[in-house]
Amino acid sequence: MPVKFSRPEELEPIERASRDEISALQLQRLQWSVRHTYDNVAPYRKKCEEQGVHPDDLKTLADLAKFPFTTKYDLRDNYPFGLLAVPRQRLARLHASSGTTGKPVVVGYTLQDLDHWANLVARSLRAAGVRAGDMVHNAYGYGMFTGGLGAHYGIERAGCVVVPMSGGQTEKQVQQIMDFKPDAIMVTPSYSLVIAEEFERLGIKPEEISLKVGIFGAEPWGEGMRGEIEAKLGIDAIDIYGLTEVMGPGVANECIETKDGPVIWEDHFYPEIIDPETGEVLPDGEEGELVFTSLTKEAFPVIRYRTRDLTRLLPPTARAFRRMGKITGRSDDMLIIRGVNVFPTQIEEQILRDKRLAGNYQIVVTRDGHLDNLEVRCEVQHEISGKLGPAEIQTIGKELQQRIKTIIGVSTRVTVMEFDSIPRTQVGKARRVLDERPKQN
Ligand code: DLL
Repeated sequence: MPVKFSRPEELEPIERASRDEISALQLQRLQWSVRHTYDNVAPYRKKCEEQGVHPDDLKTLADLAKFPFTTKYDLRDNYPFGLLAVPRQRLARLHASSGTTGKPVVVGYTLQDLDHWANLVARSLRAAGVRAGDMVHNAYGYGMFTGGLGAHYGIERAGCVVVPMSGGQTEKQVQQIMDFKPDAIMVTPSYSLVIAEEFERLGIKPEEISLKVGIFGAEPWGEGMRGEIEAKLGIDAIDIYGLTEVMGPGVANECIETKDGPVIWEDHFYPEIIDPETGEVLPDGEEGELVFTSLTKEAFPVIRYRTRDLTRLLPPTARAFRRMGKITGRSDDMLIIRGVNVFPTQIEEQILRDKRLAGNYQIVVTRDGHLDNLEVRCEVQHEISGKLGPAEIQTIGKELQQRIKTIIGVSTRVTVMEFDSIPRTQVGKARRVLDERPKQN
């Protein structure tokens, strides 16, 4: 089916190109990117050699399937700068996100990478219906997280006015929105509902709020939540997807005219869906794990990066590029708690740092209203079980809670129990995570 564009004159030529033109550009860029990585990233070259493939073997897009994957373990093993493809002096910025254990994942950008990123976020804003001259309230967190600064420079690049609010301080967020009257907001979907509730508490109705559109991402959200956000803030709610390893926000973004899943900016990121068990490439439409290859990145190119996000590729509708479905889950155990990525192994590491605590633990995730809560249940060691007073037990819990907050960045409730209180599994793996949140629809 030919794609119909609602306002073709507003699109970049590549956003309305034919599939042949897109594929030709992808192949040319892919060949550059694979060679660039092979030549400059020793650990990836080693993987290619072990698998017996060489950049010269990449003659068609389908040939990419012969190349090795890049995983979070590769990033961990080469922490912090081992996968950079340019000398450190050429970097313009670093960002980071949670690793599976104590060390975060660190990524770098050259000025050209930052330039592409700003352009792609600006393109995402236009897809969401934001136009030059609009004011955008940016409530994604600033700092090592890619959300704040990634959105920031894209907003500027789109010719908009950025309000660099960052996260938190809900009353101030609301005050500023009422005073400055921004046209759009960028924020995690869960926090947007906290802001919406503050409006409600103040008796401010949706029609009195200046916002027309919101661009939400960094965590999974479904159609139910879209309806709720749209009703409570009186806006169109648009989905933005991205991840640190591949760039940050703006790898894909939904179009306001269709609201049918984020369009992948395929001129910069080549998507594949694989079977997470076998690694085999699956046809479009089938659900599996999303894999990305960067096509233009200089500092931190990724070839076949396994995102662990489960979704499917959908045909083009509002743009010439393919779309992705909603993220339905993950093929690893990463949790996203109030926008913060958390691996159970990171929590385990903090528990094991306290010699008074035993290794058995459980993480319970629940939802209270719109916000996720995380409880960590752990046990004292056998030798001291029954011998500690309530004050000592409380101190152990408080210390663990503080370590998790400082090191992982997430607030938790810690429950310290006597030895053998947490059920043991008789067969197979321990069930570490009890996710009791209602399923997103
Ligand atoms: O969350 C980048 C981002 C910032 C995206 C702001 C959108 C807006 P990370 O912290 O590396 O990067 O987390 C990436 O978050 O692999 C998904 O599991 C999840 N995620 C991001 N966007 C969405 C979305 C940023 N729209 C991880 N829907 C990804 C569902 C999302 N999950």
